[in-house]
Amino acid sequence: MKTSDSILVTGGAGFIGSHFVLDWLANPSAPPLVNVDKLTYAGNLDNLSSVLPDPRHVWVHADMGDRARMREVLAQHRPCAIVNFAAESHADRSIHGPQAFIDTNIGATFALLEEARAYHAALQGDSQAGFRWLQVSTDEVYGTLQPGDTPFTETHRFVPNSPYAASKAAADHLVRAWHHTYGLPVVTTHCSNNYGPYQFPEKLIPLVIANALDGKPLPIYGDGQQVRDWLYVADHCDAIRTVLAKGQLGAHYNVGGWNEMANLHIVQTVCELLDRAQPRADGQPYASQITHVADRPGHDQRYAIDATRMATELGWRPKETFATGIEKTVQWYLQHPQWVARVRSGAYRDWMQTQYGSGA
Ligand code: NAD
Ligand code: DAU
Repeated sequence: MKTSDSILVTGGAGFIGSHFVLDWLANPSAPPLVNVDKLTYAGNLDNLSSVLPDPRHVWVHADMGDRARMREVLAQHRPCAIVNFAAESHADRSIHGPQAFIDTNIGATFALLEEARAYHAALQGDSQAGFRWLQVSTDEVYGTLQPGDTPFTETHRFVPNSPYAASKAAADHLVRAWHHTYGLPVVTTHCSNNYGPYQFPEKLIPLVIANALDGKPLPIYGDGQQVRDWLYVADHCDAIRTVLAKGQLGAHYNVGGWNEMANLHIVQTVCELLDRAQPRADGQPYASQITHVADRPGHDQRYAIDATRMATELGWRPKETFATGIEKTVQWYLQHPQWVARVRSGAYRDWMQTQYGSGA
């Protein structure tokens, strides 16, 4: 059997996945993209409204852990690559309810790996050699750093601390083993914190923008001195396309923005941008809404990514600085209040009801 030139993406209705889908289809010569998404609370078809009518966007509402369904999808579309974005992705939710993280990030990844293994084994010649599984992982698998430590390189050991991070690390181990044992051609990326349009307002930056504009408290966990590295989402998608095209089989690539910043500084920056773009009616700064709340249990103090390998081996570097990326992001949320309102009211899920009725 031979592959087509289409690629299959899981989780393409989520934050990063939908950017990947939109960017992919923005290239008029790009091959078709099969988008498999279960539409959990984090999947939002509003993000994809511009490409739903595009015949090159093959929308499949399915759980990637549904083996029979995924077998059919693979046989029907014969993709030459799978980019696995689908996951439960929010660390706080994993602390409150880890089960879904085990089921999806480990169980469903295992199920799709098994289907991909059988599919790959039935391919022939160049189709078999050219097939790729790209695992979209996170820097959180490396655990936490102390202030003076050097940033994570690809050889840093896995020391995941949250249920989310542990489930992602487990998935990475499965992917690695499927390469080592069965010869599945895989590459893995470990990216730092993404931000940009379409991010679900449970994550720090969109939550702060939405709460600030609603006059609500801006919750800072603990002292707000925890450090993350921030990357604009389009740069992450560009890195994934680069690794897909040029990554070495079995290799891991760290993807980051060289933008280490403390949470409190991030929130203050967002507040200052909002003060300029849409000042509060009472003339007070948005930063006056900052409220320190209880810390996240087991909160990782610092993540920092050494993305040298991406630059030297694959020639990838981020295009946005934090200053340009955060400005674009704040502007996007200001210009799309209806997107946030539909997420917060739950109306974004109406499509499910319209499309699937009460069985949705
Ligand atoms: P997200 O939570 O916004 O989206 C996840 C998507 O996966 C949703 O559309 C959801 O419906 C879908 N999904 C969940 N379970 C599924 C299943 N069983 N089958 C099919 N679809 C399913 O996540 P995100 O922030 O876009 O992250 C995407 C990936 O990138 C994740 O694997 C995450 O671990 C990784 N990552 C995220 C960041 C970040 O800062 N957001 C950074 C590094 C890595
Ligand atoms: O590092 C990559 C990871 O980045 C991804 O793997 C995850 O999918 C993604 O969610 C993100 O994880 P974080 O836990 O770092 O992101 P979050 O936006 O939830 O939090 C960022 C920091 O801000 C973190 O130190 C916790 C803090 N925080 C978060 C929220 C939601 C607050 O102080 N207050 C908040 O209300």
